[in-house]
Amino acid sequence: MIDTNSVIHKLETTHNATDEELLLLMGTDYDASVLFEAADRVRKQVYAGEVYIRGLIEISNHCRNNCLYCGIRASNTNVCRYRLTKEQILGCCAAGYELGFRTFVLQGGEDAAFDDDTMCDIIEAIKAAHPNCAVTLSIGEKSRQSYKRFFDAGADRYLLRHETADEEHYASLHPPKMKLEARKQCLFDLKDIGYQVGSGFMVGSPGQMPGHLLADLRFLQELKPDMIGIGPFISHKDTPFANCANGSVDLTVKLVAILRLLFPHALIPATTALGTIAADGRQRALTAGANVVMPNLSPQSVRELYSLYDNKAHTGAEAAESLAILKKQVSEAGYEVVVARGDVKK
Ligand code: 5AD
Repeated sequence: MIDTNSVIHKLETTHNATDEELLLLMGTDYDASVLFEAADRVRKQVYAGEVYIRGLIEISNHCRNNCLYCGIRASNTNVCRYRLTKEQILGCCAAGYELGFRTFVLQGGEDAAFDDDTMCDIIEAIKAAHPNCAVTLSIGEKSRQSYKRFFDAGADRYLLRHETADEEHYASLHPPKMKLEARKQCLFDLKDIGYQVGSGFMVGSPGQMPGHLLADLRFLQELKPDMIGIGPFISHKDTPFANCANGSVDLTVKLVAILRLLFPHALIPATTALGTIAADGRQRALTAGANVVMPNLSPQSVRELYSLYDNKAHTGAEAAESLAILKKQVSEAGYEVVVARGDVKK
């Protein structure tokens, strides 16, 4: 019988654990509040009580990919497709700047209309208008050359979840032409170019086993990302996984805490997916090691259309214009939203 308190203590002091120990902490046979308190101590050592906010701008829901879990997959004909103009994106940034955002995240499906020239033009315009802000991209798999061009245009960070680090599981979630190896190569290219890189995975995606989550943690240890985003899988009615069960909130929060202990310096968001399936999901993540929140800064008219999963939250604390609600939630949890770029502390 392993003593979980000593495992947690070891994880808190050495930032590592054996496979067996990590699997134990993902289980339910112990009092997880000890794990959450350890994660919170480590988070406070590095980031004090600061919570960084990112304005999320969903630039396009056109996507050439057909990921089986995702509501904006190419073969979903029930989506009303949109893409924002450069002017709309700049308008979102200007509104966000006034609200106190100093990082803008441009996220979208893999949309050929946002070619390299177009992206570089938009990145340069945002940096010219807001030189003290960070630009984060989350627009999928591109060539190393494209990533380099975006970086040279001023992009600071890139988010690309690996989704699952197990080959077979990856193949069951994605169409045959998408390869885990290609995804990993993108992540290593991004790091090499000089981006602050974010990766991550879904918790409870169909077919996921504890061993897959272990592989996710080990892959992240190899990648050493600056940001790590995880959220529960949530089914979408127009996908092949429509009838699959959602991921567990409890397990997701435990994994947030485990990630904080494995990666003391990482920027870890309390994700929208977590806030969508549990009213207190975001607060629970914040008290278990998360230190970032990414409210929606997209134009109101498109928020319903960027439906990665059913009932995706985009009002109240998830909406950038309702920052007061978010700030209140964060301060009630014992933390403080700060006006800052919120770069990774190494
Ligand atoms: N449930 C939860 N998360 C999802 N994502 C995509 N579809 C879903 C879903 N059905 C996540 C993926 C992607 C991120 C932008 O959204 O992990 O990387």
